[in-house]
Amino acid sequence: MLLTNDLLLRAARGEKTERTPVWLMRQAGRILPEYREVRSRVSGFIELVETPELAAEVTIQPVDILGVDAAIIFSDILVIPQAMGCPYQMIEQKGPWFEKTIRTEADLKNLHLADPEEDLGFVLEAIRLTKRELNGRVPLIGFAGAPWTIFAYMTEGSGSKTFSVARKMLYTEPAFAERLLDMITTSTIAYLKAQIQAGADLIQVFDSWAGILSPEQYERFSLRYISRICDEITEVPVTVFAKGAYFAREHMGKLSCQTIGLDWNMDIVESRALIGPNKTLQGNMDPCLLYSSHENIRNTTEEMLRAFGPDRHIANLGHGLYPDTDPEAVKVFIETVKNFRHSA
Ligand code: CP3
Repeated sequence: MLLTNDLLLRAARGEKTERTPVWLMRQAGRILPEYREVRSRVSGFIELVETPELAAEVTIQPVDILGVDAAIIFSDILVIPQAMGCPYQMIEQKGPWFEKTIRTEADLKNLHLADPEEDLGFVLEAIRLTKRELNGRVPLIGFAGAPWTIFAYMTEGSGSKTFSVARKMLYTEPAFAERLLDMITTSTIAYLKAQIQAGADLIQVFDSWAGILSPEQYERFSLRYISRICDEITEVPVTVFAKGAYFAREHMGKLSCQTIGLDWNMDIVESRALIGPNKTLQGNMDPCLLYSSHENIRNTTEEMLRAFGPDRHIANLGHGLYPDTDPEAVKVFIETVKNFRHSA
C-alpha cells in the first residue's frame, strides 16, 4: 500500500522533506469529545483496547480531527504483562493496577513468553482494520514499552512516583531482574514483529521511567535490552523515547534505531551534539505550553522548529498530551508546524 503522506517515514530515514512532520503522543484519547463518546459505549479502557473495531475508530480520530501526519495504534504498553500472564486493570482517576506482582523466582514460573497471535490478536486485528480504513493517508505507528518500564509496572504492581520496589530489586535481586527483563524483551520483539506483519509502518519504544535510574543502572538494566530490540527490528524505522534519560543521550546515538525522542528538559542543540548527526530527533514541546495563548503557542513552536533545523526532525510534545488540553490549542500547535518553512 503506497502512502499519500509519508513525511514521517522519510524524516525518520533522514531523507529531505518539504516540511517537518507532526504527531502527538496520546493524540488519541480524552482530549477529544469524539473519543469520550466511543469510550462511553464500553465498560472501560481495557474493553476499548480489546475491541478492534473501536480501537481502530479512535486511532483514526486524530487524523481526521487534528490533521496529524501519523496515526498511533490505540492500545497500551501494559498488554505485554497481560500477555505474559500478569493481567492489569485500569482504575478510573488512578491508573494501572496489577492483582499479582512479579517479585520472586517462583512468580517467574507463572509467567510465559507472549505469543502475539494467541495473546495479542486484538491489537494485530486493530492494526489490520486501521490500515484498511486509513487507506494510505498517513503511516501507522506501532509501539511497545521498553523492558525496564514494563519491569517497573510488573514488580511495583501499579504506578508510583518513585518505583522504589522496582528499583530496590535491581540492588537486591539483580539476577532475577535480568531474567524477567530477558523474558519481557523476547516477548516484546515477537510482539513488535507481529505488529509490523499486521501493517505497522514505524515502531516506537516508550521508556517512560528511564529517568529514575542511575546512568550505570540505565545501561545495564534498560539500554542493553532496548539495544537488543533495535538490533532485531530491521523491517521498519524505530524510535526510542526514553523520558528523563538526558544522561544516556550519547549512548542512544549509538543504538541501531532511526529516531530518538526528546523530552522538554533536554536542550535541543546540546542533544543534537550528544546524539550526533545520524539520528532523527523527535519532540520536544512541554505539553503545558498548550494551556497558554494561541499566540504564545505559535511563537514558542516556531522557536522550537528553528532550534531543531530543517532536517531530521519530527515535531511532537516531550511527553503525552494532558487530558484536559483544549483540542483547539492542539490544532494551533499542529497548524504552526505544518505552515512553517525554514528560511534558506
Ligand atoms: O494516542 C496514543 O498515544 C496511543 C495510545 C496510548 C495509550 N497509552 C492509551 C491510553 C499509548 C501509546 C500509551 C502508552 C503508555 N501507557 C505509556 C507510555 C507513554 C507514557 O505516557 O509515558 C504508559 C506509561 C502507559 C501506562 C498507562 N496507561 C498509564 C500510566 C495510564 C493511566 C494514566 C492516565 O492518563 O489515566 C494509562 C491509561 C491510558 N492509556 C489512557 C489512554 C488513552 C487513559 C485511560 C482512559 O481513556 O480511560
